[in-house]
Amino acid sequence: MDNKSVRDRVQELHDLLSRYQHSYYVTGKAEVSDLEYDRLFDELQSLENKYPELKTPDSPTQRVGSDLSSDFPEVQHSIPVLSLDKAYSVQEVRSFIDKCTKNSSTNKLSFVMEEKIDGFSIVLYYRDGLLERAVTRGNGFVGNDVTANVRTIQAVPLRLTKPETLAVRGEVFLPKEDFQRINLTLDEPYANPRNLAAGTIRRIKSSDTARVPLSMFCYEGFWENSTPFADHLEILRHLKDLGFKVDKNISCFCSSREEAQRRLEEASLEGFAGSFEDIEQDIKNRTASRPALAYEIDGLVLKINEIGQRDLMGWTEHHPKWAMAYKFEAPQAEAVVESIDVQVGRTGRITPMARISATELSGSVIRNITLHNQDYVDSLELAVGDTVAISKRGDVIPAVENVTEKNNKGNTTYVMPLTCPVCSSVLVKKGAHTFCSNVHCPAREKGSLDFFCAKKQMDIEGLGTKTLEILYDKNYIRCIQDIFRFDWDALVRDGVDGFGIKKTEAIAKAVQEARKAPFVRVLVSLGIPEFGKKAVELVTGAGFDSMQKLLEASEEQLSAIDGIGPVTAHLIVSSLHEENMLTLIRDLEGFGLSMSVDRAGEEQKEEQIFAGQSWCVTGTFEHFKPRDRAMDEIKKRGGTEVSSVSSKTTCLLAGANAGSKLQKAVSLGVRVVGEEEFLRMIKQKEEGDKEAEMPSLFD
Ligand code: IVH
Repeated sequence: MDNKSVRDRVQELHDLLSRYQHSYYVTGKAEVSDLEYDRLFDELQSLENKYPELKTPDSPTQRVGSDLSSDFPEVQHSIPVLSLDKAYSVQEVRSFIDKCTKNSSTNKLSFVMEEKIDGFSIVLYYRDGLLERAVTRGNGFVGNDVTANVRTIQAVPLRLTKPETLAVRGEVFLPKEDFQRINLTLDEPYANPRNLAAGTIRRIKSSDTARVPLSMFCYEGFWENSTPFADHLEILRHLKDLGFKVDKNISCFCSSREEAQRRLEEASLEGFAGSFEDIEQDIKNRTASRPALAYEIDGLVLKINEIGQRDLMGWTEHHPKWAMAYKFEAPQAEAVVESIDVQVGRTGRITPMARISATELSGSVIRNITLHNQDYVDSLELAVGDTVAISKRGDVIPAVENVTEKNNKGNTTYVMPLTCPVCSSVLVKKGAHTFCSNVHCPAREKGSLDFFCAKKQMDIEGLGTKTLEILYDKNYIRCIQDIFRFDWDALVRDGVDGFGIKKTEAIAKAVQEARKAPFVRVLVSLGIPEFGKKAVELVTGAGFDSMQKLLEASEEQLSAIDGIGPVTAHLIVSSLHEENMLTLIRDLEGFGLSMSVDRAGEEQKEEQIFAGQSWCVTGTFEHFKPRDRAMDEIKKRGGTEVSSVSSKTTCLLAGANAGSKLQKAVSLGVRVVGEEEFLRMIKQKEEGDKEAEMPSLFD
């Protein structure tokens, strides 16, 4: 091909593929088969590789992303990125309409109602029709430049059908079905599609973002001087014509249904047309049909249609007075983030923590919420002073779901410190997490001691967090080995405050008892990442039932065990062979701790009354603290553990304060067993010589 023919062919492929991408991802219709599409795509890609000067930023091949690192510099918005005022009742919506009609200068005021997409807010900036920048909302004035990643979203036009310069607001989202599919493959699943979409937009490699089928609905346009349209419906129509994906599920309300219909027709848009009296019913209908949507919405947005009337109503610092969000559910709880600091864990991992004003949620008071790592903070764009919606994941762990209101102090997204707040050593990043580089950081050493002695591990009574902290700070107990070689009488002899004869004798006795702990418990107590009770049971159950065998095991052998992945296998092998760990193991053996599974003693065979059954445990128990102890009893008798209730679950063991799992079990007809009943089943509580039968609490 001569130069001209190459150029023409590239242009032809470019136009064809852009058209096919637009029909498939924006209008939802496939014009060609996948095979034909791939053939054309490959042809364009190979021509572009051969003639790089013909590759343009709006080429359809530019959506696949790259492996180069995208950083997200802060950039100033050229439009104020405002939020919405909220309503939780139809009554509040009515008052909003009344207020708008009263303040308007027309008797033909109309409203558009849109879906409130539960996604991640993005502003797209176009210059002369080309996508120049995609920026997160940030604090409304400054956001992060995420252009490289947003480019990979097929629903985002790289070039508009007209060479316009404008800013467009919209919501990036992940359809529900894609969320379910992708989340199943993740080591750390996300709580909802919004969080997964937000995490994806902040992936370092845009090729990672490209793998997730994100989409985007656009709902507002901003032109340089003034809006060249008389009403919002015309703006939506125009955005559609420019190539944006615009949500079809809209309604228009006016003083009469006919007038509303006329407005929709004038803009050549389809939607529900109604009078103001119809708003309530439309809200009800949309609330009812919400589960059938392919994507998540968390409410509806009501906006004045006439641009001139919008200007009359004006804005506050936070939201336009001409729009309002009707939210389906009031947040479970809202709180203001008073401060954010970092905690140093026993592995040296630095975790940012949000400190909030004491807030009650499902029966407990929350003050501290983990923010996991910098990526999580970034995906929330969380700053001190922001108001956040909080929930309890799995009914237990408090989590920040999203920012509901940005602070008005100009605080920007929280950034973790560069040095350890405890020992001032430099922090290092490994994957998504940050660690203190000092292996002898006091926070790490105290954390390891605390973990080792805790109830779930060696269960050494008397050596709780506070006591260990005192003993560490006074230089009595500085490492795990010290626990077994310390002369506890020294505390009495030295007259240490709070350590009388009785207390020290009790500790010494508990330490003696701990020497008899079974091997599985010793192994868990070493605190190897990802090597908790479940993994330890899998590994010892697969024949690696002594320390010797474990030290000889390879990563390949361990990852061949069902339930042990390559990451866990790597962590087990590498952690066990660290110098400090080998010394600890040798010393513990020297102190007489068990280094192999004692088949005769430890695995006393219980009758397998729960064989083939799956059990879920929830709530708190008098006889099983922590509640894992109850699960131990189930497993000993052949049952398996499930973390959530489904119709396939055999039984839910429900203790006091059981929450949503109990409700779910009841609604699915899953058998519910209470503590008393359970004790009888495992015969820890005799009631005649009754066979372990399983009547439900609700029978
Ligand atoms: S209009 C000035 N329309 O909801 C225009 N926002 O809680 C204000 N959102 O920050 C936004 N769907 O990220 C608008 N149809 C929709 C929306 C929508 C979702 C988000 C948006 C906004 C947040 C406010």
